[in-house]
Amino acid sequence: MNIILLGPPGAGKGTQATRLVEHHGMRQLSTGDMLRAAVKAQTPVGLKAKAIMDRGELVSDEVVSALIDAELTAMGDHVGAIFDGYPRTAPQAGQLDEILAGHGRKLDHVIELEVDEDALVDRITGRFTCANCGEGYHDRYKLPAVEGVCDRCGSTEFKRRPDDNEETVRTRMAEYRAKTAPILPIYEARGIVSRVDGMAPIGEVTAAIEGILAKR
Ligand code: AP5
Repeated sequence: MNIILLGPPGAGKGTQATRLVEHHGMRQLSTGDMLRAAVKAQTPVGLKAKAIMDRGELVSDEVVSALIDAELTAMGDHVGAIFDGYPRTAPQAGQLDEILAGHGRKLDHVIELEVDEDALVDRITGRFTCANCGEGYHDRYKLPAVEGVCDRCGSTEFKRRPDDNEETVRTRMAEYRAKTAPILPIYEARGIVSRVDGMAPIGEVTAAIEGILAKR
């Protein structure tokens, strides 16, 4: 199965993708994570992307589509894919169609997480992750069970994303409205879009997505 999780910054795409990976053995393909890894490794792609990401703008379509193609090639054709944060523009949607066809895959579902944008700034600016295993937390909504200790791996090191400040988040939301939301009709015309209330508690959002996948 191949699915796209669509929604503005902080809608919960990464949170839900992680849970689906655990439950279904699918693979999460997050272009944001791939780009952050490239920035950290100071690859040519990372060196170019860093300033763009710090401003909250979009990296070029060709760069992110090449990352997705390479990842699909590496993971083999038998594992399901969850596209998280990709595609984000109409050209990327077209490139994804070509990439999937090249791998003998097709899109099964596009799941839009519907959220109240005003709540998202709060979600994003409170977000932090385990520096060791990447488990996600939030200052108010999801704290580690033992303060300062990661639930999953026991690490005591945590980090925050440099683009998780209010000014950059506002730019990311504007980019979403201008360039990403307009791709929904492409998938609506194919009858593969489902909508989920992304403001519900995390477990309820997962249950709603599971219900959509079960109807396949
Ligand atoms: P990316 O990393 O994709 O960031 P984003 O789309 O802005 O999404 P986020 O990761 O911020 O949010 P999310 O929806 O995953 O929410 P999360 O689950 O973490 O992209 C970063 C940058 O990379 C872009 O700005 C761009 O520059 C570049 N880029 C990436 N892909 C690109 C592409 N395809 N083309 C061009 N450029 C690209 O949740 C957020 C917080 O809320 C967490 O703390 C979580 O615990 C909490 N939370 C989640 N769900 C709930 C809930 N239901 N209730 C309460 N709290 C919740």
